[in-house]
Amino acid sequence: MTILVTGANGQLGNEMQIVAKQSSDKYIFTDVCEGYEKLDITDLEAIRKTVKENDVKCIVNCAAWTNVDAAETAGEIVETLNATAPENLAKAMKEVNGLLVHVSTDYVFGGDPYNTPCKEDQKGTPTGVYGLTKLHGEQAIQKTCVNYLIFRTAWLYSEFGKNFVKTMLNLTATKPQLKVVFDQVGTPTYAKDLADAIVTIINRICHSEQSDCHSEHSACHSERSEESLYGIYHFSNEGVCSWYDFTKMIAEYSGHTGCDIQPCHSEEFPSPVKRPAYSVLDKTKVKDAFGVDIPYWIDSLKKCIINL
Ligand SMILES: NC(=O)c1ccc[n+]([C@@H]2O[C@H](COP(=O)([O-])OP(=O)(O)OC[C@H]3O[C@@H](n4cnc5c(N)ncnc54)[C@H](OP(=O)(O)O)[C@@H]3O)[C@@H](O)[C@H]2O)c1
Repeated sequence: MTILVTGANGQLGNEMQIVAKQSSDKYIFTDVCEGYEKLDITDLEAIRKTVKENDVKCIVNCAAWTNVDAAETAGEIVETLNATAPENLAKAMKEVNGLLVHVSTDYVFGGDPYNTPCKEDQKGTPTGVYGLTKLHGEQAIQKTCVNYLIFRTAWLYSEFGKNFVKTMLNLTATKPQLKVVFDQVGTPTYAKDLADAIVTIINRICHSEQSDCHSEHSACHSERSEESLYGIYHFSNEGVCSWYDFTKMIAEYSGHTGCDIQPCHSEEFPSPVKRPAYSVLDKTKVKDAFGVDIPYWIDSLKKCIINL
């Protein structure tokens, strides 16, 4: 089977390139930048052409607008990239009876206060443009009736691109003192663990004996059947921490002992978007459906720091 990955030069896209090497499927890696087969996911005709030319039966969408604060002022491009583009990919997969694997975010929640881990059917209440447009993307995919898997993830980091771990590795190595917020808690996600889960789950869905990948029944119909594996899933690492705890562990495992890290309140770092105070994803559904083993966040952080 040929699987197309979009946004291959991002954090998750790069980890997909590493993990996909273990798969027997053929993976094609695309992005808008040099070094990859060029595919702009805002261009529906270009997607259709690539799908047809390569007989693509599954798309893993790792492309998105991911700058949460800049989304507030960036204008239409955020909705185009986070909602219209996933809809384009869904339409292209629907036309060939293929599977769309899409990645969304815990920021679809946050408007209503809560203090228990979010389940997949909790009502979306985004607080900013990024979360709202990602929610629109999920809804647009569902409307096409394509066979889809949407993985909502959170606090993503990897060896690639810009992320919290790399920023804090640098700051704890160079600053004598650092303040980090302790009043926002969630769970970090090592992008390699998410990529592992995606490749395992695609394999399970499309290559198992009772595979319903490419079945004549669309997700709209099969969603109603108890057997269907299509739908929305939550995936982060296991456990819970604040950004302060996360930073303490980054410093400890990288041996940056010279930095005095202190907890502070979110008010000390005003930002254009209000982040959820409690943003933990409940992963029961993905574990029950696919039997995936999800590593504890500290174990994965250690692995990433070793790889860096
Ligand atoms: N990062 C997080 O903390 C986080 C948390 C929760 C969920 N997520 C979700 O996880 C997914 C992966 O995030 P990530 O951090 O790996 O993203 P990322 O590092 O920002 O990578 C996104 C990639 O998409 C590319 N791209 C931009 N516009 C494109 C277009 N029109 N067509 C094709 N590719 C395009 C980007 O290229 P350029 O760099 O050249 O623009 C980049 O290579 C996203 O859906 C994101 O919303 C992320």
